[in-house]
Amino acid sequence: MMIAETTGRAACLIGWPAAHSRSPLIHHYWLRLHGITGGYSIEAIPPEGFAEFVMHLSTHGFAGANVTIPHKERALQLTEPDERARAVGAANTLYYDGAVLRSTNTDVEGFISNLDVAAPGWDRTGDALVLGAGGASRAVVFGLVERGIPRIHLANRTMERARVLADQFGARVIPAAWNTLGELLPRTGLLVNTTSLGMNGQPPLDIDLALLPRDAVVADLVYVPLETPLLSAARARGLRTADGLGMLLHQAVRGFELWFGLRPAVTQELRALVEADLL
Ligand code: ATR
Repeated sequence: MMIAETTGRAACLIGWPAAHSRSPLIHHYWLRLHGITGGYSIEAIPPEGFAEFVMHLSTHGFAGANVTIPHKERALQLTEPDERARAVGAANTLYYDGAVLRSTNTDVEGFISNLDVAAPGWDRTGDALVLGAGGASRAVVFGLVERGIPRIHLANRTMERARVLADQFGARVIPAAWNTLGELLPRTGLLVNTTSLGMNGQPPLDIDLALLPRDAVVADLVYVPLETPLLSAARARGLRTADGLGMLLHQAVRGFELWFGLRPAVTQELRALVEADLL
C-alpha cells in the first residue's frame, strides 16, 4: 500500500561557503511554535552551481530560500525582483508565486519594523543621518525613503561612495563628508550605523552623542556584540535605541510568511534563544 507523503514545505539558506547563520534557529522556532511541518536547511552552493540550483529550487524540494554572500546580486538577475530588491541591488529572499520565482529584500522591512517596535514615533524626530554606504546602507536608505523621511544625510568615510548611493535615491538623500558629522548631529532625529565600526574586533564608532537632540533615536546594524559601544553610549544618555539583533529577527518575518503562509511574531522568547546562540 502506498502511504501518502505528509512532509511539509521547506526553505533554505543558499550561501558559499556554508556560513554559520542564525536563520535555521529562527525559522525552526517559528515552525515548532505554529506546529507547521517544514524545514529550513543551509545549502552550500558554489557560484558555478547557483543558477542551476535556483532555477530548479522547487525540484530540489524548496518553497523558497534566503540567499546570502556571494549570491545576492546574481539572485536578482535569476528571479522577478520587487521594487525593494531592485532598489537595494540585491535579493535575499526568493519565493514562488505560482510558477514564477520572485524575490525581495527583507532587510528593508527588518530595519523599519524593528524601529517601529523599538522606538515608536522614530519617523517624526527630524532628519535621519546614515553612516556607511555599503550594501546594508542601501537597504536602510531605501527603507527611509519609502517611509517618507524628508531628509536623509548619508555620511561615509569614502565620500564618493555616499555620492553614488545618494544619486540613486533622489534629492531627499544628501551625501555628507565624515568631517561634517559635528554639524549634522544637532538636527539628527535618527542616527543609524551601517558601518562595521563597533563590531567585535573593529574599532568603536567614535561619535559625540551629546550633540544629538534628547528625543533622538540611535540604531546600530551591528549585533556582535549585542550592545555596541554606540548603543551603550546612547542608552547612557537616555536616548532610545534599536539594535542589530532586532533587525535580524524582523527581517526573517517576511520570508517565513511567504514560504509557510503565516506571519510570525518576533517574541521575547525568540530573541532570548538567538541571544544565547550569539554568546
Ligand atoms: P556592508 O555590505 O555590510 O554594508 P561594505 O559594503 O563592506 O559592507 O561596507 C562597509 C561600510 O563600513 C562602508 O561604508 C565602509 O566605509 P568605506 O566605504 O569608506 O570603506 C565602512 N567602514 C568600514 N571600516 C571603516 C572605518 N574604519 N572607518 C569608517 N568607516 C568604515
